[in-house]
Amino acid sequence: MSKIVSGFSKLTKQEKIDWLTDNYFEKPITAKETLQQYWNDNRILQELHDDFIENSLSNFYFPFGIAPNFVIDGVDYTIPMVIEESSVVAAASMVAKFWSSRGGFKTKIIATTKVGQVHFMYRGDAAGLQFYFDKMKPQLLRATEPITENMRKRGGGILDIELRNKTSELANYYQIHATFETKDSMGANFINSCLEAIANEFKRPDIEIIMSILSNYVPECLVHAEVSCPIEELYGKDAELYAQKFIQAIQIANVEPHRAVTHNKGIMNGIDALVLATGNDFRAIEAGVHAYAARDGQYRSLSNAEIKEGIFRFWIDIPLALGTVGGLTKLHPLAKLSLKLLQNPSAEKLMRITAAAGLAQNFAALRALTTTGIQKGHMKLHLNNIIKLLDASEKEKESLITYFENRTVTHNAVIKKYNEIKALE
Ligand code: MEV
Repeated sequence: MSKIVSGFSKLTKQEKIDWLTDNYFEKPITAKETLQQYWNDNRILQELHDDFIENSLSNFYFPFGIAPNFVIDGVDYTIPMVIEESSVVAAASMVAKFWSSRGGFKTKIIATTKVGQVHFMYRGDAAGLQFYFDKMKPQLLRATEPITENMRKRGGGILDIELRNKTSELANYYQIHATFETKDSMGANFINSCLEAIANEFKRPDIEIIMSILSNYVPECLVHAEVSCPIEELYGKDAELYAQKFIQAIQIANVEPHRAVTHNKGIMNGIDALVLATGNDFRAIEAGVHAYAARDGQYRSLSNAEIKEGIFRFWIDIPLALGTVGGLTKLHPLAKLSLKLLQNPSAEKLMRITAAAGLAQNFAALRALTTTGIQKGHMKLHLNNIIKLLDASEKEKESLITYFENRTVTHNAVIKKYNEIKALE
């Protein structure tokens, strides 16, 4: 039977759930209960969440955790993190504490420029087009004035627009490449509105506008974060050896894309968790970061490390187009709370904190990988998660934890051991 439906968005929430559960589930009542058990009792709060998207049926919980003890540019922070992966918050907290007594994280904003483009086709003479663009430029900027007025008051606006000839890459293809400063907002709506106004003013019968859209590739919206300490403070024993291994792990990620992707994924564990907690667009951040990691044509590590005169230095340069106003930042009560927890940062401050969270996560991963291996820490949390699914008493839990201290944790092995413990009781 066809499951194609018309006018679905106009149905009530209950009607949508009925349609869904009747059409897709063998046990509609159970499916309904699963969806409904996540509804919030507070009707206004539930409606707020429902209104974020179309066809919303329920809420999908992710844990909201915190990683305390981050010292960033001399200020103490507790970082909110929204993530499902069990080891991430524990790793961030451990690393934050570690660096808090070694000078903390130091950060620097390198640039905050954002980009948008009007893409168009033109079949005529390139010099004639350049002449037309140069002549039109003041008028194009004037066309955005009503949109940019408020942003200019806040110190932002359009920085420049230029014509780019891309015909060597695609026949007849040109673009107006625009750069923006959007201050504390991520600026997506602002940039797109400006671009559409520019495109509208620029169009001519012989200019075929294809699209006007911001770019999530923001290599000039860049922040630097680093930590450093004498190598003997880095590891208790064999400090030099382990510091070298740490650096070699980064060198491997620099030359080997398979490793680089996983290396950078670890960085994004920290970044995405904070980006989500503050109501920012993690897909935009992900896309921009990975494009930056491949900026010279090969995908490489985002972080770097060196030892110079006995000092270990570990750093990251990462593009992060974040906002602390607009979008979900003030609409989602937990995003609002996260920003409050971070002392209501400017977008630049949030870039700094986020870069530090990413670097911390990478430090935790590389340190574990080049010493004990990653599974030791992961397995402890994995074991806890499996135990939670069992109806184990405190005593049984303790027995399981002791038993698996030096053994490989698998779901089957835990169940088997649990059954053995139970059989002996
Ligand atoms: C797991 O989520 C992240 C790591 O794989 C990162 C890394 O390998 O560097 C541990």
